[in-house]
Amino acid sequence: MIVNDLLLPSALQMQRLGIIGEITVCDMRVAALKALKENPELREAFPGQEFRTCPALEEEDSDDPELYKQVLAKKDPFGAVIIALPDHLHYPVLKGVLPFNQHILCVKPLVLKYDQALEIEAEALERGVFIGVEYHKRFDRRSLLARKHYRQGDLGDFALGESKLIEPYFYRHSNFQNWFTCENTDPFVYVGCHYVDLVCFITDLKPAKVSVTGRKGIFPNGKEGYMWSNGRVVFENGGILSVNNGLGYPDDSAGGNDQGLVMYFDGDDCGGLLAHDDHDRGVEYGFSANQTKRFQYINPDFFRLAPWEGDGLKPIGYGYDSVAATLTTASAIEAEVADHDPDDAMKIRRAAIGKANDKRLIATPMNSAYNELVQEAARMSILNDGDVALIDYSDDRPVVKLRN
Ligand SMILES: NC(=O)c1ccc[n+]([C@@H]2O[C@H](COP(=O)([O-])OP(=O)(O)OC[C@H]3O[C@@H](n4cnc5c(N)ncnc54)[C@H](O)[C@@H]3O)[C@@H](O)[C@H]2O)c1
Repeated sequence: MIVNDLLLPSALQMQRLGIIGEITVCDMRVAALKALKENPELREAFPGQEFRTCPALEEEDSDDPELYKQVLAKKDPFGAVIIALPDHLHYPVLKGVLPFNQHILCVKPLVLKYDQALEIEAEALERGVFIGVEYHKRFDRRSLLARKHYRQGDLGDFALGESKLIEPYFYRHSNFQNWFTCENTDPFVYVGCHYVDLVCFITDLKPAKVSVTGRKGIFPNGKEGYMWSNGRVVFENGGILSVNNGLGYPDDSAGGNDQGLVMYFDGDDCGGLLAHDDHDRGVEYGFSANQTKRFQYINPDFFRLAPWEGDGLKPIGYGYDSVAATLTTASAIEAEVADHDPDDAMKIRRAAIGKANDKRLIATPMNSAYNELVQEAARMSILNDGDVALIDYSDDRPVVKLRN
């Protein structure tokens, strides 16, 4: 779970640095909370640091999907909430959290519908709370450099691209089999969104046409899901991105998954190229003990707990940078409003939200709502056997529709 792998260790590091205070993790399943408390790597990394849980570890599982409200009712406003729940719960939980006036970091996808993204954006602005969407690939140094060079005009005009993210086969044996079914989602929506967002992040181009074809398969529990998907996104300038995704990277292969991005550009009577191998980042280990896979490609760039000059271990990588970007923005807003009356404080908060929207570094509900448009279009297409879905920006409110 992403709380264990990224969010909690990042929050603990920020607590260690004095940027955030007390941490409470809320999960309806006590077993999930126990696993976090007992994770030996977290104990080693953050000696002497604690976090509360809700429910307490001695209690039973909760059957209240709004348990988090009990925690928030005891918190002062304008702290921070991290939302890391299954995709379809993001919208109702965002709606449930917003009345508590907390800044929010939400894992991707923010929500599943474009209108929902606009609704969340409007309510957050009204309340003066900042929302960051955790698209961490944006904070990979290679993405930041690519964005800089594209914007400087060093690469040319995006013409053709190829992206892939193939998750391991063993996902089919996980909890995925209960919800990753044809009517709910598909590999394009689940992980293809990362590279579509990245191409938008690098180029600032809007996606205009989407078609996705899926290949179905049967999970071990008998449910049917799309195990593979091949998508094509055409951007407003005619640039074409092919997006290959699936749950099928061999479990005993060296990487954690297979992923990467290649982009070609039209320059001034010449071509441009960007190629990111995000699968083999040049680090190979042949382990002799303590690992399930002997030979592995190690990704030192996303998230690792590494030795540092302080006690324990410190999170390094773009996963941490991404979490820290939103939480630091929220913390900086609150530091700025500290000596102001409530009216001025609200103006300052709204100005800071506008500035982050315009900067387009952290994904916000406003500046990344094209992701929800692409998602809507992709679902329409895959459920109609790959028919092209168009995103029409000619009205104030973009419209997604099948071409025929
Ligand atoms: N690369 C990425 O950006 C990335 C990677 C992994 C996951 N994610 C996203 O993170 C989210 C969570 O994924 P995950 O793999 O951690 O899932 P998970 O199933 O491991 O964890 C979700 C947890 O939510 C708990 N839960 C469900 N409903 C709840 C409620 N109402 N109140 C409290 N707890 C509740 C469940 O008990 C479970 O422990 C998804 O939206 C997923 O798309 C993003």
